[in-house]
Amino acid sequence: MKVAIVGGTGMLGRHVSRELRARGHEARALSRSSEEYPVDLTTGEGLEAALGGCDAVVDASNNATSKAATVLVEGTRHLLAAERSAGIGHHVCVSIVGCERVPFGYFKAKADQEREVEGGPVPWSIVRATQFHEYVRALFEQAGRWKVVPKLDAPLQTVAVAEVARAVADVVEGGPLAGRLEIAGPEIIGAGELARIWRRVTGRRALLLPVPLPGKLGQALRSGAATQRQPHITGSTRFEAWLKAEGR
Ligand SMILES: NC(=O)c1ccc[n+]([C@@H]2O[C@H](COP(=O)([O-])OP(=O)(O)OC[C@H]3O[C@@H](n4cnc5c(N)ncnc54)[C@H](OP(=O)(O)O)[C@@H]3O)[C@@H](O)[C@H]2O)c1
Repeated sequence: MKVAIVGGTGMLGRHVSRELRARGHEARALSRSSEEYPVDLTTGEGLEAALGGCDAVVDASNNATSKAATVLVEGTRHLLAAERSAGIGHHVCVSIVGCERVPFGYFKAKADQEREVEGGPVPWSIVRATQFHEYVRALFEQAGRWKVVPKLDAPLQTVAVAEVARAVADVVEGGPLAGRLEIAGPEIIGAGELARIWRRVTGRRALLLPVPLPGKLGQALRSGAATQRQPHITGSTRFEAWLKAEGR
């Protein structure tokens, strides 16, 4: 199968490309910085040429800034239009567990992106994941440079990105679901506890800094909006074991 991975140079996209190639598929990595397949979702530039001859598209692009809707929602419209012209038979959108439950701009953009896909012209699947171990570690490392680490009063259920990539590859091979598949990590654990684990395993000296979660956003996250007790797939690697295996 020939598969285009939009955002193929990103955290998840790199793993999806690797997983698909290991299974014998051709995987094209598309992004603004891709040398072979440069594309820009915000304008649609490069998409049609990059998608030529492909059977399926995985959208693993991302933007968590104030421009999230431009990339994720308008970008999806450009992408689906190009997919239709290119005769793509399956669009796989990567999304986030609970995005419709979290009243925050980025999560709202993800929920809007899902709606574009559901109502769009290309047969589709949505794979929703919880936060990646890799993402949480990156946040802790960034803050750790200032000798602090954020302590959020909210449960998370982080999952290894390699396990999400396997689930995405399975969906690509299985064909359009016209529905959602959810993958979540093996444990629901307080974000503060994740910070303590990171500090202990890495040996970093950093102060746990409580970060208040105001209003409805705080209510939603504290009530577990970003977790899923009964996912279709439960990852097997816990954050602590993953961190130790990574060697830091
Ligand atoms: N991170 C998490 O914990 C997490 C958890 C659950 C679900 N997800 C979902 O997983 C997906 C991938 O997230 P990620 O964390 O792997 O993202 P990421 O590491 O930030 O990678 C984003 C990718 O999108 C590309 N991109 C950004 N703007 C673009 C544009 N205008 N046109 C074309 N490509 C563009 C980037 O490449 P260039 O900059 O070179 O264009 C990069 O390849 C997203 O849908 C996200 O919502 C993430």
